[in-house]
Amino acid sequence: MSRRTFPEGFLWGVATSAQQIEGSPRAGGRGESIWDYYSSVPGNIEDGSNPWTACDHFRRWREDLDWMKWLGVGAYRFSVSWPRVLPRGWGEPNQAGLDFYEELVDGLLEAGIQPFLTLNHWDLPQALEDRGGWPDRTTAEAFTEYAARVAERLGDRVRHWTTHNEPWCVATLGYEEGRHAPGRRNPVEALGAAHHLLLSHGRSVTEIRRIVPGAEVGIVLNLSPSWPATEELGDRDAARWFDGFFNRWYLDPLFRGRYPEDAIADRIARGHLPATGLPFLREGDLDAIRAPIDFLGVNYYSRTVLRAGAGGRPEGVPPPETERDEMGWEVFPRGLYDTLVRVQTEYGPPAVYITENGTALPDEPDREGRVRDARRIEYMRSHLAEAHRALEAGVPLRGYFAWSLLDNFEWGQGYGKRFGLLRVDFATGERTPKESARWYREIAAANALDIGEQPSSSRRLP
Ligand code: FCB
Repeated sequence: MSRRTFPEGFLWGVATSAQQIEGSPRAGGRGESIWDYYSSVPGNIEDGSNPWTACDHFRRWREDLDWMKWLGVGAYRFSVSWPRVLPRGWGEPNQAGLDFYEELVDGLLEAGIQPFLTLNHWDLPQALEDRGGWPDRTTAEAFTEYAARVAERLGDRVRHWTTHNEPWCVATLGYEEGRHAPGRRNPVEALGAAHHLLLSHGRSVTEIRRIVPGAEVGIVLNLSPSWPATEELGDRDAARWFDGFFNRWYLDPLFRGRYPEDAIADRIARGHLPATGLPFLREGDLDAIRAPIDFLGVNYYSRTVLRAGAGGRPEGVPPPETERDEMGWEVFPRGLYDTLVRVQTEYGPPAVYITENGTALPDEPDREGRVRDARRIEYMRSHLAEAHRALEAGVPLRGYFAWSLLDNFEWGQGYGKRFGLLRVDFATGERTPKESARWYREIAAANALDIGEQPSSSRRLP
């Protein structure tokens, strides 16, 4: 065993999102979100469920705060539900909605837990979707207004602000592949959605800074290293293709003020863009998008392996069964190191947080009611070892947020995928700490980690 000590002040946190835990969809005048509507359509959610009760966090948040105190975390990453604050997406804010977050934030501060607030973790008000949703430029304007309203109310107590969570998921899963709300399948609209997400990010960074002096503002991207299945040219090009749209389509505009040329060409070739380029782009947009940020949030779960499929089309290669979690995702810790180092060398954000990392397991309680999730502990240990290696390589990594505090509503997959440190019995709402919660509690207290002799990066590579 050898010990890895993290820098003083390194933040140990847990993460959640509003739609996945809160429930109470009508309380205090909350409006409908695209996920409320989408999950009411039969067939959209794998287990036929919806997020209307979820973890009942809206009513049980004090208990959840107690669990965070017990865990000893220094930070909590949560999201504000846009339709709770602006039931129709714009206009006069709903004070009852803002009151809820103010109470939560006050509770956190009292407990010495830093609030990391995300404005958009996917729960767009349905009223805005009805007016065109993210492919429509007015949604970017509505978001900037919403950001300002929340900043005005909570800016005196929240220091860390995140605009969007994983814009790739919103644009691609929501508007291109139809696997997430709002369930559209239109690649042309998806590119517009991605642009308006980025534009609204940049504009609200500026707006939040104006309202909240000293605010630290950032965005959260889901990044995945892209590996060719073989060294064949076709496979390597498939990996480049995926990287271009999954990673660089967001990193390049945010840090360099331009979209990647090769990925634009790929989209033109597929007929998703006209030969003349980006129809949604207006003068000044790219400057707005590259507004300097204070930190980049990185959500890391796995890598992606690609090959040239039929007709040369890139396609993902499924990982071997032995290494997959319940989501079908490969456990690949080294990808976290690679991602952090790549982002630093190519884009140089001033600070980085791992804003999500975790794994879904069956997590059945044993006869004594204990959830012995040794695989989750191993998952976290190996990823934290890689995070530590990235720190040593010079990455300005400031903290780690485990996904998630609670088992919750896992979007299109419903309640079957358990990511929590705390098990939630969805029939009763009861929370029980898993073994991983006890383990994480010790790591956070020690600010250090014991790892085996074999660095996880020496695992088998293709
Ligand atoms: C991320 C999401 C988060 C959760 C995890 C498993 O893509 O940000 O809400 O669903 O995946």
